[in-house]
Amino acid sequence: MSTTLIANWKMNGDAGRAREWAFTINRQLADAPAHVQVVLCPPNPYLSIAGMALPGNARLKLGAQNCHAQTNGAFTGEVSAAMLKDCGCAYVILGHSERRVMGERDADVLAKAEAAIAAGLTPVICVGESQSEYEKEAMKDVLSAQLASIKGLPLGAYLIAYEPIWAIGTGKTPSELEIAAAHSHIKTVLGSGVHVLYGGSVKADNIGKILEIDSVSGALIGGASLEIISMGALITAAAMRVRK
Ligand code: PGA
Repeated sequence: MSTTLIANWKMNGDAGRAREWAFTINRQLADAPAHVQVVLCPPNPYLSIAGMALPGNARLKLGAQNCHAQTNGAFTGEVSAAMLKDCGCAYVILGHSERRVMGERDADVLAKAEAAIAAGLTPVICVGESQSEYEKEAMKDVLSAQLASIKGLPLGAYLIAYEPIWAIGTGKTPSELEIAAAHSHIKTVLGSGVHVLYGGSVKADNIGKILEIDSVSGALIGGASLEIISMGALITAAAMRVRK
């Protein structure tokens, strides 16, 4: 099983950072064990710039942070999955909580995921409960509702990222038992073969413990993925993971 680290830059970074980050992290990956994979998801304008810094046989893949459900048309400001594929993307993050608060619904996430798979991209579908849902111990119900629409997608064609909203950018993380319980619930709903990542305040000093959880296939990392040094430390920690 591989360990996938997804760097979600959100609306941060610039051209120089995209170039340097891609070049440096790709070189570091050459020395990491084969189970460690990295996906860089910068803002769309920097995808091609990052791609140009990657020589052939790159162990570092590119991903986008969203796509439109249609292939083309009169959708000003939008980008299709096929366009992302054309720019060198292999992955696309979908249903991130920061997009769900902008109005993205489960049905939109499904339509985008279908478009992404049809275009040859692997969607990384984000699910997770809010602080108040967590306090009401409603994590399983929230996940079940979010996952219901995507149950028909071919297993293996997508990844799930369990991202409790209360852990994103807050420095708080669930306990290892809580992460394991959420991942186990996701696998019960979708099938045991689904690969599930964890996201929310992942840092170099906690990723080791998180990756010790058997059901965790990797991490979706926001803030700590921006700096080359802290991303490098995350890769070093992931490289020490003992794969079973
Ligand atoms: P964070 O963000 O690592 O900064 O908490 C994670 C995410 O939003 O994907």
